[in-house]
Amino acid sequence: MGMIGRVRSQTADASKFVVDWMEHRTGIVTLTEHFLYEPVPKRGAWLYTLGSATLFLITLQFLTGILLLFYYVPSIEDAWNSVYYIQEEAYFGALIRGIHYWSANFLLAVIGLHMAQVFFSGGYKAPRELNWVVGVILLLLVIVLAFTGYLLRWDQDGFWASVVGMKIGSYTPFVGGATIHFLLGGDVVGPATLSRFFALHVWLLPAALAPFIGIHLYLLRRHGVFGSEFEYTERLAKLHENQRLEEYARYELDEGEEEYEDGENGYGDDYGDRGDYEDRRS
Ligand code: HEM
Repeated sequence: MGMIGRVRSQTADASKFVVDWMEHRTGIVTLTEHFLYEPVPKRGAWLYTLGSATLFLITLQFLTGILLLFYYVPSIEDAWNSVYYIQEEAYFGALIRGIHYWSANFLLAVIGLHMAQVFFSGGYKAPRELNWVVGVILLLLVIVLAFTGYLLRWDQDGFWASVVGMKIGSYTPFVGGATIHFLLGGDVVGPATLSRFFALHVWLLPAALAPFIGIHLYLLRRHGVFGSEFEYTERLAKLHENQRLEEYARYELDEGEEEYEDGENGYGDDYGDRGDYEDRRS
């Protein structure tokens, strides 16, 4: 072995040692494998990326939102100016703000597509109904996030959009008037409204969103992606049958009874082959 080969194999040994060391103490490898590997449907595979795309965009919103907070000032005197500063002066300000804006728009589109995919594939059926309900909560939270974010820049667009939106909401039977009064912090969109929308947009809604995303993903892993059920049920059954036969064959060998010939069990040459067992047993 040349020097480069030796260095290469020593590096490989060292990294294997580190990984094994960590695994033994934290179980991190097993954990990562558990979180990474999930059978996903082969048919219509791209449609099943819509949920992950939604998750990606939300993560992007959290990250760019936090960065915007470095400069944004939530008061009617300074809000627009601070947004102007972010857009024109701050390093990468226009980029960060642009990503937050476009990702919010795409998020609404992609969440709608994700919901449509789940609906048309029947992914909401038992035992996944609760995940649909959690999804509806997520959708509402995302819509209110988009709505409250619009006012924060305190320009004509955002201001009047909020006025119109609140007016529409105020016509909701029974609860509309009181809810809108509470959100406005008075009778019209003003300084109190900006404070409340800011609190909702930056604290309350993201804090509510995070655990529901957690529940959504937990339930998803619990039941597996719906489409994969059809594709894998048969393959899993075959696998279990193979395992059962293997156990049986091993038992027979131990008992010293009649032995199988190649492929005699009907599973072809790659399975149930006696030589195969002998190799594995030695
Ligand atoms: C914050 C928003 C959301 C995120 C981050 C999210 C994320 C995900 C991910 C990653 C998956 C698995 C892959 C896939 O099938 O695409 C999934 C599945 C699912 N989602 Fe969502 N989702 C969101 C909103 C929604 C909405 C609005 C609904 C419906 C009202 C919904 C209902 C479901 C259901 C029922 C499944 C299981 C589908 C199956 O097993 O085939 N989700 N979601």
